[in-house]
Amino acid sequence: TDKQGYRHYMMKEIFFQPDAISKTLKGRITKDQVITKEFGESADLIFSKTECIKIVACGTSYHAGLIAAYWMEKVANIHCQVEIASEYRYRKSVILDNTLFVAVSQSGETADTLAALRTAKDAGYLSTLVICNVDESSLTRDSALCFLTHAGTEIGVASTKAFTSQLAVFALLALHIKKNNMQNIDYAKDTIFQSLFEMQQTMRRILKNSKKFEEVAHSLRDAKSIFYIGRGPMYPLALEGALKLKEITYKHCEGYAAGELKHGPLALIEDDIPVIALAPYDENFLKILSNIQEIKARNGKIILISDSKGVDKAKKYCDQTIVLPNTNFVTSAILYSLPVQLIAYHLAVLLGTDVDQPRNLAKSVTVE
Ligand code: AGP
Repeated sequence: TDKQGYRHYMMKEIFFQPDAISKTLKGRITKDQVITKEFGESADLIFSKTECIKIVACGTSYHAGLIAAYWMEKVANIHCQVEIASEYRYRKSVILDNTLFVAVSQSGETADTLAALRTAKDAGYLSTLVICNVDESSLTRDSALCFLTHAGTEIGVASTKAFTSQLAVFALLALHIKKNNMQNIDYAKDTIFQSLFEMQQTMRRILKNSKKFEEVAHSLRDAKSIFYIGRGPMYPLALEGALKLKEITYKHCEGYAAGELKHGPLALIEDDIPVIALAPYDENFLKILSNIQEIKARNGKIILISDSKGVDKAKKYCDQTIVLPNTNFVTSAILYSLPVQLIAYHLAVLLGTDVDQPRNLAKSVTVE
């Protein structure tokens, strides 16, 4: 738990992610199958019966859930709904048949998530599953099933490695539940397994070129406000990017679904409000490209994070570009998390904030 030469815990935890992810995946996948022995046979019965998933969490863990919902519906062909724990616990909700309740938490002690799980236990769900980084936490004790993320202790208040490990666990869950679902579509299964296997190396490659993220942070220093935009799983990652920036740099930032810009926020665009577009070259790319053009036409400043194909197509509209490796529908959100975290980190350092212990925040929110 020391900083091992890093200036901050957050930086150490960002750079530990290749190892964290390999710990998360270790012993849980073969080249074309998810291994779920650790859950026992009763779990497989539950997974095979699951027709809907309800995910409940707070903050960054909630964003992991939102990303997972895109995967559950596309990869596993399972209806998935995600809700903020502090909302869920105080409202009446309707539970569809054979719904698996999933609570997500790094700490396992978040008061609202714990209360939501306790409410769910007697509410008629098929079963409860907790995705958590801390064994022997209140959440793991209270849930029927538990999927540990094994990311190692996270000390920085800003969640980084716990988030990408939660995503890796969700990827496994989507792939596994899909296997047991008779009506599933065979969505790029081989590509996803292969890219999970290569995840550690791909993350290392991105982190090696982290200088570029520092340059982006410099360019954001005087920004009045910042936007993150994305489509598909990149939309919740845009929310996460905005949360990271707010939390540790104290700068105002909003995450937006790119298609929503024209419904209001486009009015805010001017040259001191930069927009960071998270846009791998995928089925959404041409749509986000037209959003980028709309922003450019209003003198907005665009920072594009994409792969080489995406950057080639869009660079003439962008002020800065970052090239990441090629990804797929599942791994994009995991890999694009790294620039999002590093941009926030470097900007916080430049602005001199307390990176590991930002004002007014606690690592574990055990009270309402
Ligand atoms: C993220 O950087 C925050 N520290 C915060 O949003 C956090 O994710 C939230 O409080 C939930 O915590 P948990 O994952 O431990 O339940």
